[in-house]
Amino acid sequence: MTHQLLQHKRGVIFGVLDRDSLAWAVARQCKDEGAALVLTNTETSLRLGPVLELAAEVEAPFIPADATNIDDLRRLWQEAQQHLGGPIDFVLHAVAQSDNIRRHRAYEEASHNYLMHTLDVSALSLHKLLQTAMEADALSEGASVVTLTYIASEQAMANYSDMGDAKALLESIARNFGRAYGERKGVRINCVSQSPTPTRAARQCESMDRFRHYVNALAPLGNADAESCAKVCTMLFSDYTPHVTMQTIYNDGGFAHTGLTDRVVKENAFGI
Ligand SMILES: NC(=O)c1ccc[n+]([C@@H]2O[C@H](COP(=O)([O-])OP(=O)(O)OC[C@H]3O[C@@H](n4cnc5c(N)ncnc54)[C@H](O)[C@@H]3O)[C@@H](O)[C@H]2O)c1
Repeated sequence: MTHQLLQHKRGVIFGVLDRDSLAWAVARQCKDEGAALVLTNTETSLRLGPVLELAAEVEAPFIPADATNIDDLRRLWQEAQQHLGGPIDFVLHAVAQSDNIRRHRAYEEASHNYLMHTLDVSALSLHKLLQTAMEADALSEGASVVTLTYIASEQAMANYSDMGDAKALLESIARNFGRAYGERKGVRINCVSQSPTPTRAARQCESMDRFRHYVNALAPLGNADAESCAKVCTMLFSDYTPHVTMQTIYNDGGFAHTGLTDRVVKENAFGI
């Protein structure tokens, strides 16, 4: 069921790679809710996944851009506004990459070169995206920007290597730019902290299936899936959250604030 919450809105979606991508679910939901879209990702993403299939489905052009490259971002804002016919009303930042995770290097053994790259792609890209958007005055008054984060920004998590540091920085950038862009143009910037969801990026974490099983047993509502994430993003993009900004919204079935559940204690979810 859709409500046309995003009718007449123009959106740019970063991070669609394949059907499992959180951004894929968000793009489909936004289209169903009436938005006009531009999709963006790296050139390489075109080789890795069926990005153009989704672009056809949601009737959006694909504009390649490396989210760490200022020139690419400047061109993206210009071309996106040309295509959509005006300033952008909402942006999804769903961008992350860690070579430490990909190569199964534990936090304490992280390569510092990889760590710098992780921070650039997974956190600083949000700063770059917002700074270039502000320079180009590419966002409309009261526009909404959402980035996707994870509870490892606050809690130490096994198998998440350097990405916990990246998420902590990402959330800090969302707050600090939320202050600046809010004062300047009423732009809202929020983080959605999502349950572990089986995507290409997440599958690079060791023992991802066991990890998801564990978290699911600890969350009173169980793990949130990609479609659930898309609904929360849609709400934040819509006009129903005009004063929600600089927040981290937990779309995690209650995991972030739970100690133990009956499922773990009484139902013996781990077979102990
Ligand atoms: N899947 C989960 O369990 C989970 C949980 C919480 C938060 N997240 C976050 O959600 C976001 C989306 O990840 P996902 O899980 O959908 O995985 P995904 O692999 O589908 O998406 C990651 C995206 O980042 C893009 N990317 C990497 N480097 C880039 C660059 N330099 N420029 C532009 N794009 C680049 C990739 O091409 C890909 O589209 C990430 O920020 C991730 O950390 C995921």
